[in-house]
Amino acid sequence: MIVRYILNLLLLIEVVSHGISKLGVHALSMEYYAIRCPLAEMMVKNTVNRALQNDPSLAAGLLRMHFHDCFVEGCDGSVLIDSTKDNTAEKDSPANLSLRGYEVIDQAKELVEKQCPGIVSCADIVAMAARDAVFWAGGPVYDIPNGRKDGRRSKIEDTINLPAPIFNATTLITIFAKHGFSVQDLVALSGGHTLGVARCSSFKNRLSKFDATHEVDPSLDSRMAATLIKQCQQGDDTAVALDPTRNSFDNAYFRALESADGLLTSDQTLLTNSETRYFVDAYAMNQARFFFNFQRAMVKMGLIDVKEGVEGEVRLNCRVVN
Ligand code: HEM
Ligand SMILES: *[C@@H]1O[C@H](CO)[C@@H](O)[C@H](O)[C@H]1NC(C)=O
Ligand SMILES: *[C@@H]1O[C@H](CO)[C@@H](O)[C@H](O)[C@H]1NC(C)=O
Repeated sequence: MIVRYILNLLLLIEVVSHGISKLGVHALSMEYYAIRCPLAEMMVKNTVNRALQNDPSLAAGLLRMHFHDCFVEGCDGSVLIDSTKDNTAEKDSPANLSLRGYEVIDQAKELVEKQCPGIVSCADIVAMAARDAVFWAGGPVYDIPNGRKDGRRSKIEDTINLPAPIFNATTLITIFAKHGFSVQDLVALSGGHTLGVARCSSFKNRLSKFDATHEVDPSLDSRMAATLIKQCQQGDDTAVALDPTRNSFDNAYFRALESADGLLTSDQTLLTNSETRYFVDAYAMNQARFFFNFQRAMVKMGLIDVKEGVEGEVRLNCRVVN
């Protein structure tokens, strides 16, 4: 009886706040699963931890997956949907850029579905998994609000909204501003490149060897350029670490930028623009400040165009629309 009452109350709150959300206030909540599925957060965390014990490099995959989910159609799990014979999904765009970690999301989803069927959205699982991966790799711990609904649209052409690695700081500032991010947010979020790798195809624009019309990018350290040219002779898919400590979440990425060792154009450009440079310098000098700004920016990222109520669903299988 009491439980019924509380659930109705929750529903009412959800409906009312859904109305408000139309005015730009979101209805996600820190306690979203506290009653609906109290073990959800723990089950996701355990699944992520187990996967990362086997393969620490998956932390990067999970973080990047959340970024791609949110920047295309909002944080609605659309990045997880498999293509069908009638629809080519985001996943199959060349810009899926070797996303990794889908099986971790599937495992977590399977666990929570057993415990509380139809309650925990795939979009929330992606957001939680990214958060847990960052912490596992040594990054900041932070809470995220939940209650995102899963979207029903996943189209290859929407991935045009992802920023390209050849973009300069001016362009990145504009793109991130469209999602409500400040310059500080842009630089802090770029710090996500403290984890993981990029393939040569993502940075060969900086190596003259592969493009006779360009000199080696002058903003790239010449010793590093020589090493990269050699590594990339093994092919476009050769993976190179984005910073010197690819499995540790730390500020080494920013220190690398300071010595012209950033891997992508979109990384090193943050040092050449005075607005972004201010934050690169700050984070290179002070890791705590990076962590603090990163977690705030991640919470913000997790709120991009979230779907609520009837705008979405809770997918039963993250790869397939219900
Ligand atoms: C600022 C605009 C951004 C651009 C242009 C960009 C571009 C890229 C590119 C090209 C790669 C390598 C893909 C490949 O070659 O396979 C990559 C990897 C990665 N990105 Fe970004 N990214 C951006 C922002 C972000 C943000 C905001 C995050 C998360 C907070 C993020 C997290 C990652 C991670 C963790 C990897 C490594 C993935 C792995 O090792 O599997 N990126 N990014
Ligand atoms: C990414 O896209 C390529 C085609 O560009 C496709 O062959 C590959 O299977 C996709 N990767 C994933 C994980 O879906
Ligand atoms: C940045 O890139 C844009 C688009 O390619 C270009 O118009 C602009 O001049 C570039 N800005 C700088 C400072 O290089």
